[in-house]
Amino acid sequence: MQQVTFGLIGGGTVGGGVHQALQRNGALMASRLGIGLTVAKVAVRDLTKARAAAIPAGLLTDDWRGVVQDPAVQVIVELMGGTTTAKEVVLAALRLGKPVVTANKALLSTHGPELFAAAAKHGANLYYEASVAGGIPVIKVLRESLVGNRLISVHGIVNGTCNYILTRMKLEGAEFADVLADAQRLGYAEAEPSLDIDGHDAAHKTGILASLAHGFWVKPGQIHTEGIRGISKLDIQFAARLGYTIKLLGVVKQVPSAKRGRPGPCPPIQVAVYPALVPDTHVLASVNHAFNAISVRGDVVGDTLFYGRGAGAEPTASAVLSDLADAALDLKHGSHNRVPCFVAHSGDGCVVPMDDVVSRYYVRLTVVDRPGVFARIANLLAKARIGISSIIQPEGHAGETVPVILMIHDAPNAAMKRALAQIAKLSAVKDAPVMIRVEPFE
Ligand code: NAP
Ligand code: HSE
Repeated sequence: MQQVTFGLIGGGTVGGGVHQALQRNGALMASRLGIGLTVAKVAVRDLTKARAAAIPAGLLTDDWRGVVQDPAVQVIVELMGGTTTAKEVVLAALRLGKPVVTANKALLSTHGPELFAAAAKHGANLYYEASVAGGIPVIKVLRESLVGNRLISVHGIVNGTCNYILTRMKLEGAEFADVLADAQRLGYAEAEPSLDIDGHDAAHKTGILASLAHGFWVKPGQIHTEGIRGISKLDIQFAARLGYTIKLLGVVKQVPSAKRGRPGPCPPIQVAVYPALVPDTHVLASVNHAFNAISVRGDVVGDTLFYGRGAGAEPTASAVLSDLADAALDLKHGSHNRVPCFVAHSGDGCVVPMDDVVSRYYVRLTVVDRPGVFARIANLLAKARIGISSIIQPEGHAGETVPVILMIHDAPNAAMKRALAQIAKLSAVKDAPVMIRVEPFE
């Protein structure tokens, strides 16, 4: 049987998971592919470190260059993370004409155009199924399965850590800091947790999905990004009372002209990451813990949903193995760039600035309960031509500080921010207003 030999650069959570999964299912894969997959070496930083996954000492090395340059190693699997040395690894392999598999969404987001250009120049494929949504094969879905569709919208819960934190805050009333520590212990969180909780990891993934869906490279700076640091248990509870669940969403959608604050030059899309109120009736509201889900609407297929474990050793290993299988088959059949990844098929696209995006909002104000306060707030919103659709104010005692929840009709983001900045200056308004978008899934 033909053999394909690969080198793992990184033997941590994902690298260890890949090694273990191949131990378990390598023979099964070989029988399915007609190709045996063999790991030649596993490069790590610290040879003395205790490892959760038992990688034989004979496979370990601290010399990644030696692995990349070894003529017997045909495929490089980059699982080290980061954007500096990882970029060197990927470029070094591509320049040698070696296919590369990576799970590194930060690397792709930051240096994607350069890496894909190097892959094309050197006739080597670059595979990245594990970079978005762990074990869910959504890259292949957008790249191949839905190729006959114009993609109207993609809504994704694509960060397992945030979804895990928000789920436990809702179901158990847990505190943010405690559940973050658990996500780290379970191997979901990035080495630098702010990548997760400030929305950057979700933005890296959403940018990759947007680029695939719309055929032009969406730059990280074009993706409006908010994380979940500002989400409190109070907001989760009020949202539940109103029939919503708060989720961190990656959103890629065509913006109808009626939903834009002002006209623009090209067919516009919105690409953004933010916590949103998801109606409890929508399937994404019940995607819990570290599970991810991506709902994709195509003009031919209609609505589709892809669900699975979005983080952790095994789900991510499953996606890496799928790429390894593709790499092995492409080597066997000599196919390069079989399915082009970011070839512009719709010309240069246009990402709508977030300020122009129109949506509904949940707003929580912390106000002193005294006569006239609400009239002043309503007056400022009315002057900005912003309509209130409902109000909740739990009964309190006069003079006390109380939360006021406003549900707001469609309004442009910029107008909403300006109005809230004015409301925040009122003497009766204590604390910064909280504003969370309501996702309509229209
Ligand atoms: P990790 O547990 O921190 O593992 C990183 C590995 O890279 C470690 O084995 C480390 O060596 C090695 N490494 C770091 N610098 C190195 C260097 N200069 N030379 C050789 N080896 C080096 O990270 P991870 O969670 O497996 O994540 C790996 C990648 O997968 C990241 O890009 C991440 O974003 C992505 N990803 C992770 C998940 C997940 O759930 N964890 C899911 C999808 C994608 P030591 O072991 O000696 O420190
Ligand atoms: N830190 C990432 C997450 C890992 O929590 O989703 C999977 O990409």
